[in-house]
Amino acid sequence: LDDLLAEGVSGRRVLVRADLNVPLDKQTGQITDDGRIRAVLPTLGALVQGGAKVVVCSHLGRPKGAPDPQYSLRPVAGRLGELLGAPVQFAEDTVGDSARACVEALADGQVALLENLRFNKGETSKDDAERGAFADQLAAFGEAYVDDAFGAVHRKHASVYDVPARLPHVAGRLVLREVEVLGRLAGEPERPYVVVLGGSKVSDKLAVIEALLPKVDRLLIGGGMCFTFLKAQGHEVGTSLLEEEMVETCRNLLERSEGKIMLPVDVVAADAFAPDAAHDTVRADGIPSHRLGLDIGPETVAGFAAALSGAKTVFWNGPMGVFEMPAFANGTRGVAEAITKTDAFTVVGGGDSAAAVRALGLDESSFGHISTGGGASLEYLEGKTLPGIAALED
Ligand code: 3PG
Repeated sequence: LDDLLAEGVSGRRVLVRADLNVPLDKQTGQITDDGRIRAVLPTLGALVQGGAKVVVCSHLGRPKGAPDPQYSLRPVAGRLGELLGAPVQFAEDTVGDSARACVEALADGQVALLENLRFNKGETSKDDAERGAFADQLAAFGEAYVDDAFGAVHRKHASVYDVPARLPHVAGRLVLREVEVLGRLAGEPERPYVVVLGGSKVSDKLAVIEALLPKVDRLLIGGGMCFTFLKAQGHEVGTSLLEEEMVETCRNLLERSEGKIMLPVDVVAADAFAPDAAHDTVRADGIPSHRLGLDIGPETVAGFAAALSGAKTVFWNGPMGVFEMPAFANGTRGVAEAITKTDAFTVVGGGDSAAAVRALGLDESSFGHISTGGGASLEYLEGKTLPGIAALED
């Protein structure tokens, strides 16, 4: 971005791909966590200050290639305007008449937000020509392109992968910072390096576990995925979340892990998946058959905290329990607090963990870095080539 700013952006139309895929309340449609909007302010602010005509585009949710009001970016335009301190023009479509009129009417230093990219089939199409045709329409709105959508760089989508081939392109401040920080973890992280993984599915995390195991000193596993590991150890897990087809894979990982993998020794087990369900703390090897684990227990939190205490680098991805329900939030809170108490360089990755930090009222500044990427940060750490980054390096 600094290169582009040094050239001068005053009066130039700059197309910014942002990841404004924020969670919305299903009932009210209100934004429940604006972290991703705030994360692009440094880039947008610099462009506005430089006098650019800023055209922002993003996806929200997973609409099926056609307009779908529940995924409209309109509320995001409002919040973005509040945070920028100046109204943001909102285009009712992405590349149609409304978008064209909106872009043409922009004055220097003004910002417009286009409607959801994924209302158009071309955005996510696997067909190069279809994606390319959509990228042509988008690229027409800019004289330069800034990618600040770190959360989407792992997607080979038109706005991420094809537009930079059509315009002078640079990385925005957020993308640069994410790549610097995650690059530090992917390179030679200072040791001991402790990784905490949670979230519901082992299958989503398998590739990252494989990639991390040789690098880490400890791998602490909680969240819904721990039950498949507990089962692999031969324990009964009641009605807890279980990926039966992954049990053998987990057994194999445990065998190869050289004792680095640490699993819960106690869990909070409930009789239903509900905020007011009856619940107790039970041994991880003694979950009653009619109960399901919804959080890690206090002894596990203490053990994880001890494993974290001497760490020099920490990466945390995925909640330890159903933190949205107060009765099952203690594990996530306890582990998050233990992470902030270390002297380590600490990185939180993944939308859910970042949302947990904010929802639990923890101080964001006590973490070294909170990544805006979910899948993107994991794929980066796996060492995969990410289409959006590759397109910028060209
Ligand atoms: C995310 O939330 O991880 C990003 O916004 C990417 O969204 P997607 O998984 O729907 O592509």
